[in-house]
Amino acid sequence: MKKVGVAILGFGVVGNGTYRILKEHRELYQRTQEVDIVVESVLERNKERAISLGVEEDKVASSIAEVISNPDVNIVVECIGGIGAAREFVMAALHAGKTVVTSNKELVCKYSHELERAAKRHNAGLYFEASCVGGVPIIRTLLDGVQANNITSMMGIINGTTNYILTKMTNGGASYSDALKEAQRLGYAEADPTADVEGFDAAYKLSILSSLAFHTKVPLGKVFREGISGVSQEDIQDGKRLGYVLKLLAVGKQSENGIEVRVNPTFIRKEHPLASVNDSFNAVYITGDAVGDVMLYGRGAGDLPTGSAIVSDIIYAATHSENKYSTFKNNAAAEKDTKFVSDFRSAYYIRLTVQDKSGVLAKISALFGKNNISIVEMIQTESGEDKATLVIITHETHELAVRNAVAKIDDTGVATVESVLRVVS
Ligand code: HSE
Repeated sequence: MKKVGVAILGFGVVGNGTYRILKEHRELYQRTQEVDIVVESVLERNKERAISLGVEEDKVASSIAEVISNPDVNIVVECIGGIGAAREFVMAALHAGKTVVTSNKELVCKYSHELERAAKRHNAGLYFEASCVGGVPIIRTLLDGVQANNITSMMGIINGTTNYILTKMTNGGASYSDALKEAQRLGYAEADPTADVEGFDAAYKLSILSSLAFHTKVPLGKVFREGISGVSQEDIQDGKRLGYVLKLLAVGKQSENGIEVRVNPTFIRKEHPLASVNDSFNAVYITGDAVGDVMLYGRGAGDLPTGSAIVSDIIYAATHSENKYSTFKNNAAAEKDTKFVSDFRSAYYIRLTVQDKSGVLAKISALFGKNNISIVEMIQTESGEDKATLVIITHETHELAVRNAVAKIDDTGVATVESVLRVVS
């Protein structure tokens, strides 16, 4: 039986999850895949931790040089994260002709061109299913399962931390800061939650996924990004009243106008399949010209879900003699002939505080009309002594038109803007 040796770099949550799956399922893979996958080496700064988690002492390496000079190691799994040591070690492994499996979205998003060039030059494989949406097999689906299609759109909840926070705010009535604290207590959010709550994590993933879906490089800088830290309980409750649920949506679209990629808090109708994706779960909803709609749902993070994606890549690499490379174009910048849409179209939710007196609505509708913004519905949700809260849902319109109108609201002298959010119409 073919024997394949694996080295795991980084023995944190994901490295350990990968190790456990490989150990526990070794016989299953022997039986079903006809391959014996053995962990030959673990590189972990805290050696005692690796040993206490069951790694034999003689398998704990002291340096990347020791790992890549080990002839029994065929596949190097990178679970370190970030773009410091991880980038250096992955490049060293590829240069040594070792196949690399990584869960590192930032590394793949920013350096895929460099990694892929090294992999091809040294006839090594490069696989990164675990970099996007943890255990949900979205990359294999894009590369293999729906490759017959021209993918026109992709909408996803691809960050579990923010989905947990928004779910607590929606269903439990929690404030943003209480929901964030709870996410930190449960280990979803980091002590510094910026990468998740400001949408960076989702933007890395969207850059990778839309590059694969649309067969061109979609650099991070082209992804419009807005996080959830400014979302208020008022917005969530007003949206709910109108039949919407707020999600941090990653949206990728491809049309004759170009590619549109954005991550922003977005209202979706409560009947939409993505509306019921709650807590820390993730989902991606793809539309292809032949297949129609396809939705994948599951855990986007965690030891075993992310380990599942890593081990699936290991098995793929171990059972295929030819390396399969992604469809990333091999350069850092966007292709010259790839058009990106910046003035994208969307429906909008706009919450205003207005003076509660006659003539106010006329002034606001006149301003919207002047900017070609058509209103679908408008409700007054609260009134104080002489103030009221007005919530407006628009038809699909241009982002720039909304920005222009919002910038001029103060000039009406009767209203101020509290929030502007996108709506999937
Ligand atoms: N922090 C991410 C999330 C998981 O909350 O979904 C890793 O990308």
